[in-house]
Amino acid sequence: MGRLTGKVALITGAGNGQGAAEAYLFAKEGAKVIATDIQFDNVSDVVAKINSEFPDSAIALKHDVASEEDWKKVAEEGVGKFGLITVLVNNAGILSMQPFLEVSYEVWKRAIDINAWSQFAGIKTVVPYMRQAGIGSIINIGSLASIIAAGGFNPYTASKGAVEAITRAAALELGPEQIRVNSVHPGGIDTQMTRDTFTTEEAKEAVANAVPLKRFGQPEDVAKLVVFLASDESSYITGTAQIIDGGIWVQ
Ligand SMILES: NC(=O)c1ccc[n+]([C@@H]2O[C@H](COP(=O)([O-])OP(=O)(O)OC[C@H]3O[C@@H](n4cnc5c(N)ncnc54)[C@H](O)[C@@H]3O)[C@@H](O)[C@H]2O)c1
Repeated sequence: MGRLTGKVALITGAGNGQGAAEAYLFAKEGAKVIATDIQFDNVSDVVAKINSEFPDSAIALKHDVASEEDWKKVAEEGVGKFGLITVLVNNAGILSMQPFLEVSYEVWKRAIDINAWSQFAGIKTVVPYMRQAGIGSIINIGSLASIIAAGGFNPYTASKGAVEAITRAAALELGPEQIRVNSVHPGGIDTQMTRDTFTTEEAKEAVANAVPLKRFGQPEDVAKLVVFLASDESSYITGTAQIIDGGIWVQ
């Protein structure tokens, strides 16, 4: 408890899965949380639960991460409520599964806009607040898909490759201002995204069996890593790509 006391965190895609787990754990560790999602009802429910346990810790805002205008609005409203943003978790994302030759420009653009441009727009929006605060930690959620090949996920893989590269470039540029930037690359995590992808028990079991630790990750597994990267415990870590996958990539 208290590992994030004094931090103000903006977490995107906080209405479900990993973002919801992160919002909860951040509040539990003492942060003030600006929880955003395009699905306002979901993020409102998440925030109601957080505030019932940790009063006045979080606000819910509707936010399309692909819209730069939305970014400005949620940041201004969040700062108005809790003060300067010192942590950004770029978590919102969509899966995109098409064989190479079936990828249209529209499908490609949607994956890049929501998964990669959004993170760039988020960094642009919050850095001026972090500069004023004199400190910052930005955590960009990527995927194992950009580290090992995953056939059939082409626009998704490309968008997550951009996340990894943006992270390194931003870490270099922002390091002298004590703003750290790291990416997190989960393997299979048990959320709506994987439930929509692996629809049968057999398919789920096959995925779990391919993992050295023999299970899907849980949203809380990722949230714990993200708390560490947001906290001052990781103050000498920047520009890294953190893999959290139960050991898949070493095989
Ligand atoms: N679940 C996995 O196995 C897995 C693996 C690797 C990486 N990831 C990444 O983790 C992140 C979180 O995914 P999850 O597993 O919690 O999935 P999820 O589907 O449970 O949650 C994603 C959230 O993002 C929100 N979102 C989607 N488009 C949005 C937009 N345009 N603006 C704002 N919010 C939007 C959704 O409403 C949802 O609440 C994503 O970036 C995803 O690519 C997931």
